[in-house]
Amino acid sequence: MTTPGLLAKYRPLLDLPAHTADISLHEGGTPLIPMPRLAAHLGGGFDLYVKFEGLNPTGSFKDRGMTAAISEAAGRGVRAVICASTGNTAASAAAYAARAGLKAIVLIPQGKVAVGKLAGAVAYGAQVVQVDGSFDDALGLVVQVSETRPIALVNSINPYRLEGQKTAAFEIIETLGKAPHRLCLPVGNAGNISANWLGFTQMHARAGTGLPRLLGVQAAGAAPLVLGHPVDRPETVATAIRIGRPARGEQALAAAEESGGRIVAASDDDILAMQTLLAAEGVWVEPASAAGLAGLKNEIAAGLDVQGETIVAVCTGHGLKDPDAITRRMPAPQVVAADLPALEGLLAGG
Ligand code: F0G
Repeated sequence: MTTPGLLAKYRPLLDLPAHTADISLHEGGTPLIPMPRLAAHLGGGFDLYVKFEGLNPTGSFKDRGMTAAISEAAGRGVRAVICASTGNTAASAAAYAARAGLKAIVLIPQGKVAVGKLAGAVAYGAQVVQVDGSFDDALGLVVQVSETRPIALVNSINPYRLEGQKTAAFEIIETLGKAPHRLCLPVGNAGNISANWLGFTQMHARAGTGLPRLLGVQAAGAAPLVLGHPVDRPETVATAIRIGRPARGEQALAAAEESGGRIVAASDDDILAMQTLLAAEGVWVEPASAAGLAGLKNEIAAGLDVQGETIVAVCTGHGLKDPDAITRRMPAPQVVAADLPALEGLLAGG
């Protein structure tokens, strides 16, 4: 017996064509981790959980959508898939394409992709193309290529990506017994916030499980949905969400509004500080994944009342994806001679 993958578990709830295959790495089933110390740090009076999506097979939530998108493409007889990516989509597409025996071509912004993601894409055997431009430039290119060649586009413009990704909402409802009051998560190309809203609204329509208010959080240097216009040169330490023209921006704004929530921005300093706070409670996430909680912290500081609420923060990718984000800030290593007195001396010094 193995744990079922997402398609095996949720197929009747997913709007996928009949020809869809089942290409799986047994993704999903990620833990919902209580974070009492962080909740107290943010003011207390509410229950806080992290949905740790970094524990998916390739280390990010992208695997939920990719099992669906690659399964559809493989079932249709496509031989190659393509995507633009800030890194996680690339690694996930590469892994699921490998699983299906398909070729994967991934376009990434040159020099702006965290090493764990780039290495993943290479390890799984993708053709990795670095674009001298932004994610948004790369996305424009892959859309055009997929229109003229028999190559399936597996960015979240592909509706099957959202069908897979909405399973995160199903899992949260299963674990809590109902929807949380509030869901906070990072926003880049805006597929994930849209997918989660799909999942929560679908389950609420079926079973009256309630709806969370959405708090979507962009990085301040890449916040087109907060500014109300595209950002030509997005810049942020959270490279996963370094996006200036989100493909699903309108849908995300509509979802946030319909939920009674909003989309806000958090500074790089706030994002890195939240990454440290999460790690101090044993959960190491990549910078972008701390953005949702960084936004929540700012909102609470600005007067948002969350007393009595249950809040879930979706932490989208594992810290191991972007080790440089930590090593860049690391203090000089403590070096000691290989003898006990030297070690005792060092420990005595604190
Ligand atoms: N968090 C992480 C770790 C991501 O990699 C992404 C997006 C997001 C959040 C935002 O999700 O785009 O659905 O709003 N990464 C994409 C990629 C863009 O190419 O890996 P979104």
